[in-house]
Parts: sequence; C-alpha cells; structure tokens
Amino acid sequence: MSKTITFSASKGGVGKTTMTFNFASYLTQKGFRVLLVDSDYQGNLSSTYESYTNQNTLYNVFTDGNVEIRSINPLLSLIPASPHLDELEGVLQSKNNKNFMMMMWLQDHLEEIKEYDYILIDTHPEFGTLTKNMIAVSDYVVVPLEPSEYGFIQSKQQFDLRMKEFREDAVDIRTRETLIEAQVLYLANRVKHNTRSSHEFGQMIDQIDNLVAVFNEREVFNSSTMLKTPVFDLEQTKRNPKALQQIKDSFEKLLESVK
Ligand SMILES: Nc1ncnc2c1ncn2[C@@H]1O[C@H](COP(=O)(O)OP(=O)(O)O)[C@@H](O)[C@H]1O
Ligand SMILES: [Mg+2]
Repeated sequence: MSKTITFSASKGGVGKTTMTFNFASYLTQKGFRVLLVDSDYQGNLSSTYESYTNQNTLYNVFTDGNVEIRSINPLLSLIPASPHLDELEGVLQSKNNKNFMMMMWLQDHLEEIKEYDYILIDTHPEFGTLTKNMIAVSDYVVVPLEPSEYGFIQSKQQFDLRMKEFREDAVDIRTRETLIEAQVLYLANRVKHNTRSSHEFGQMIDQIDNLVAVFNEREVFNSSTMLKTPVFDLEQTKRNPKALQQIKDSFEKLLESVK
C-alpha cells in the first residue's frame, strides 16, 4: 500500500512546493516509486516538469475522472494541476461528498495507484474543499513553518485547530467515527543560522513532539526552485558536502516519520 503525504500550510512561501519536489527526489534516489499530485492551481510543481496544462489533470478527478498520470522518469510520475482548479471550490459546494471525491477516484484507480510507494501532494495555501480532499486521502499532513516570522506557534495552533474541526466534521454518520486518518507532522523550514531568534527557536522546537525535521535557510533551495533541479543534483550543493549531509539528514528524519 502506498503512503500518502500532503504538504499543506495556511501561508504561501513557506516551502510546500520546495519540500514536495526535493523530498520526491530524495525518495526516488532511495529507489522508492513516487507519484506527485499538484493541487495548487498556480501549478508551480507542474511547471517544474513542464506539465502545467488543462488536459486530463487533477481537475478531471472532480468531473469525468479522465486523469492522465504523466511519467517523469521510471520512478517518478505526476498528476498535474490545472489553472482551473480554483473554480472547483464553487462548483463542489452543492455536492454531499464534496470532500471525498479524490478518495473515490483513488478507490476507482487502485490498480494504477498501488505501484507507488509514496504519493506526495502539494497544495495551495488555504484549507478549502480541494485541500480537504487531499487531506482526506492522506496518512500524513506535513506542515512547513517558518520560525523567523512572528507567529510560529500561532500558525501551528491555527493548523491544529482546523484539522480538529475537519476531523469532527467529517464523520461516518452511522458510527460517528471520523473519516480523517491523517496525522499532522511539522517541519521547521528556513531556519537561519546563529541568530538570537534561531537560538530561542531551537529551544522552543524541542518542546513540540510532532516537529520532525528542521531545514536551514540555504541558497541551494532557491537555486533548486529557479533551476527546477533537486538540491541533490546541483553542483552548488556538491561543493558543500557538509550542507548536503545536513539536508539529507533532515529528509531522512522526515522519511523515518512517515514509514
Ligand atoms: N530552506 C530554504 N532556504 C532557502 N530558500 C527556501 C527554503 N525553502 C524554500 N525556499 C524558497 O522560498 C520560496 C518559496 O518556497 P515555495 O516552496 O514555493 O513555497 P510555497 O509552496 O509554500 O508557497 C522559493 O523560492 C524557495 O526556493
Ligand atoms: Mg507552492
């Protein structure tokens, strides 16, 4: 059975797409088969693979079911985003099963899906119907948080609260058990080295038990985004073995948490 992980956060620019993209690369290096799903209508992840289109995309999960899974390489595939994904919010409102359409599509396509070890889902920064569909099919929700900005703990509490509400809202009517199984894991991302705030932050994160990995603020991540290349494949990273090792250690911690 594949493990499904959604990268979500209420804010943009915290590293959802960067982490989805680079974690996929980390997993394929280890020989795992990965399916990427881009549920952000802005399509950053899809654009990375030159696959931002409106033909047979994730959008079709919510209409006729005719989705094409694109093969990127022998270990990596993609269900791209469509620029029209944002229109679904309105269209789905009247449907009783509006939060579970992705779940139903996956059930109907188990044969194609079961070959993947991991399904990694990127999202738009909001907790709307589309994101709820993605969380409903997930074993884990990974939430990157930025320490430097005011309100790290508030962002975390806000996300915890939204998850709690979703769990309580999405119940099986007969058994009253929640249909939402996903466990929330936090990542600290863009942690700056050797500043006073990063030191205080270090003490604070020790107290958060589901904060599973820390990534420093590093130029190589920016390059990775700009050059559409995983950090592991950049010359810039290879020239700094210590940094490369730290990045690998952090992804390994994330992997250990989702096994
Ligand atoms: N650890 C990091 N160090 C430096 N830059 C980062 C890091 N993580 C993400 N970034 C950069 O921040 C920008 C926003 O990241 P992105 O993944 O697009 O955020 P989101 O998908 O949450 O909106 C990108 O340019 C990305 O390269
Ligand atoms: Mg993004």
